[in-house]
Formats: sequence, structure tokens, C-alpha cells
Amino acid sequence: MNVLLIGSGGREHALAWKIKQSPQLGRLFAIPGSAAMKNLADCPAISQDDFEAISEFCGANKIELVVVGPEAPLAKGISDFLSEKGIKVFGPSQKGAMLEASKQFAKEFMYRNSIPTAAFTVLYDAALAREKIKENKRYPVVIKADGLAAGKGVRICANEGAALEAVADFMERRIFGASGSKVVMEEFLTGREASVIALVDGESFFMLPVSRDHKRLRDGDEGPNTGGMGAVCPVELEPAGLELIKKEVLQRFVDGIKKEQIPFCGVLFAGLIFTPGGPKVLEFNCRFGDPETQSIMPLVAGDLLQMLKACADKDLSGRKLEISRKTCVSVVLASGGYPENPEKGKEITGLYKVPAGALVFHAGTVKKDDGYVTGGGRVLSVTATGDSVEEARQKAYAAVEKINFEGMQYRKDIGL
Ligand code: GLY
Repeated sequence: MNVLLIGSGGREHALAWKIKQSPQLGRLFAIPGSAAMKNLADCPAISQDDFEAISEFCGANKIELVVVGPEAPLAKGISDFLSEKGIKVFGPSQKGAMLEASKQFAKEFMYRNSIPTAAFTVLYDAALAREKIKENKRYPVVIKADGLAAGKGVRICANEGAALEAVADFMERRIFGASGSKVVMEEFLTGREASVIALVDGESFFMLPVSRDHKRLRDGDEGPNTGGMGAVCPVELEPAGLELIKKEVLQRFVDGIKKEQIPFCGVLFAGLIFTPGGPKVLEFNCRFGDPETQSIMPLVAGDLLQMLKACADKDLSGRKLEISRKTCVSVVLASGGYPENPEKGKEITGLYKVPAGALVFHAGTVKKDDGYVTGGGRVLSVTATGDSVEEARQKAYAAVEKINFEGMQYRKDIGL
């Protein structure tokens, strides 16, 4: 089976690494892919936004499955476009992707389908938003830009002034463009968070092991929010908690998309918080998590590609994917200046010294001569598995010690 993977980050590098192990794989291609992914896949020079060229490429190269990594092409309708041409896609329809691309759409979907989530109000203009904020008595409160904002559109506002500032930034200054035309104001919830990622074929689901990412830049959950500075998988949950997630989140999600006729073949990623009142959904995403994927893929012992194809064939029901009982820890190495202003072009040393057993997934690197230089905010995900979280941490950090680039930042408490 020839497969085309869309995307270029650490998540896609990890997916390519796992798909490459499938006995069913013929050729693997990636668009746009990355320099490091060229060791696993052919990367034709086609933009991930050029759906027509992608479709022609699929025809010419007998692609049997397209796997879409990032949310942006999904929100632009890549899945609908290719499906209409008869190409099988793992990645939801544009309407399905709205569960990530519009907070309002997601919250109203959760509400209609009794999926537990924080109480919320949608605010359609800045004057109304200011009025509602002035009436609000409970702080902190959460203000979210409705549309995609590269993970930066959520503010936890400690007081009225901070909430008004968020409204001014999102709705008036439009720091995220049209994504701030509406905002969702939400109850603030407290508890431990976890990332629940499930494969969905539109009728049934298969839940991957639960993971947790570390979103703040610095140890002890200090510093600014980032795309994620590392992840650990699995996160130990009580069996009753797992059953509750399956029943109240995943099954209700699948029932909801069926009832509302939302075509959805792909990943449901539910960001959960475990409140004293039980697990609640903070957000839905419609793609694999990054860096969660880098800590899940090394634990997949079975054939991931077979499961992705089964989703595209609406044939997931009853299928199982073998998962190792080990633990995986993935540490992100980020550029100096990340997240605001990442430095680029810094030489990366020591990659060849990484001990066997650790994996290095490239998120933002550029090939230069025989090596790599930094090319983005999050540069590498250094990953290792072990029989315990301690062992996985020790192996991952032993590998991190070998790597260096000017300004390199990473957390030392991933998995703690
Ligand atoms: N790690 C969070 C995300 O992928 O959105």
C-alpha cells in the first residue's frame, strides 16, 4: 500500500517512523515532509495547501491512503477534496475539523451530546463581551478565541482587567485575525490534565494509551504556554476513570457525529481535566497531539497503518492494536527565544552520539552540509521507553545530554 503523509513536524516524523514499520507498506511519501523525514519517505516539493497538486500526485503514485497530520489542511477541507476524487483519507471532513477550528462549534456539540465540559457563553461582539465580563463574579475565568490560533488563543484571566484585555486583544486588535471574531467565555476548572487520543472511523473508536503533555516552558509548570515541552505515556488512570472516559466522552462523541451526520474518519483528541466532579473535556482537536504522538508511537507494537486504513474503510469495529506495556518519555528541545521569538540557524551537535534505544524525532530542523541546524521553535523530541517512568526518563535525559545547540531550552521534569 502506497501512503502519503501530510505534514512536517515532530508528530509527523513519529507517524512516518511507525508507518514505515508496517508490513503492508509499499512506498511512503510525505508532503512537505522534512529533511529528517527523507530518511523514511520521499518528499516531493508540493505545498500541503495545494490540494489539486496533491490529488494529481496521489493518482500518479497509486496512493491508497493519505494520512493528514496537522489541523490547518483539515480545516481547509483537504479530506473532502481528496475523498471527492476517490482517494482514501485518514483525517476528518472540514465539518468534523470544526470541532477544533471553532470553539463555539465544539462547545455546542458537547452540550447537545451531553459530553461533560465547562459551562460557557459565546460572545459575538466586544461590547457584549465587556458587559458579560462586568457581570461576572467568579475569577479566574477562561476566554478563548473561537478559531485556530496555534495554541495561543486561550487565556486564563485572574481578574476583570485581564478578561477585558483578552477581549481587546482577540476581538478588537484581532491578534489572531478572524479567529477572534467571536470568543467563548468559560468556567475555570482545576485538576490534573490528560490527553485522550482515539482513532475514529465514524461509527466506532479505538482509544490509544492516555498521555500527558507539559505545556509550560519551564520546570514546575512555570513560564509561558508553549505547544508542549514534552510528554509521557501512559498516564495511569483508575479502570473506572477509563470506562467513564469511554462512555461519557468517546461513545457520546461517536453517537453525536452519527446523529449530526458529521463525516469523521481520523483522530479525536480530547484534552481532559479530572475535576472532583469527574473528567471534563477542555477542548477537542481533530488530529494527533504534538508532542503526545512522539510518546505514543514508540509504544505501538502492532500495525498502526492497518488501523488507519481500517478507519478509512469504516472497518474499525472489533479491531485491536497491540500496545507495549512499557512507558515512554519524550523531551522537547526548543530554540532560544521560544515561544515568542525562536532563534534559527544554530548548529545542532551530538545527534550521532545519542545512545541506541533513544529516538530523536525532528520538529524544526534544516539540513546543512552533513548535519542539521535549528529551523523552528520546537526543534527535536528526544524519546525513550523503559519498564518504568523512571527508567524511560533516565534514558531520554541521557540522550538529551549528548545533544546541544546555542540557546537550547528544555524541561528537566518531564514525566515527574
Ligand atoms: N499537545 C497539545 C496539542 O497537540 O494540541
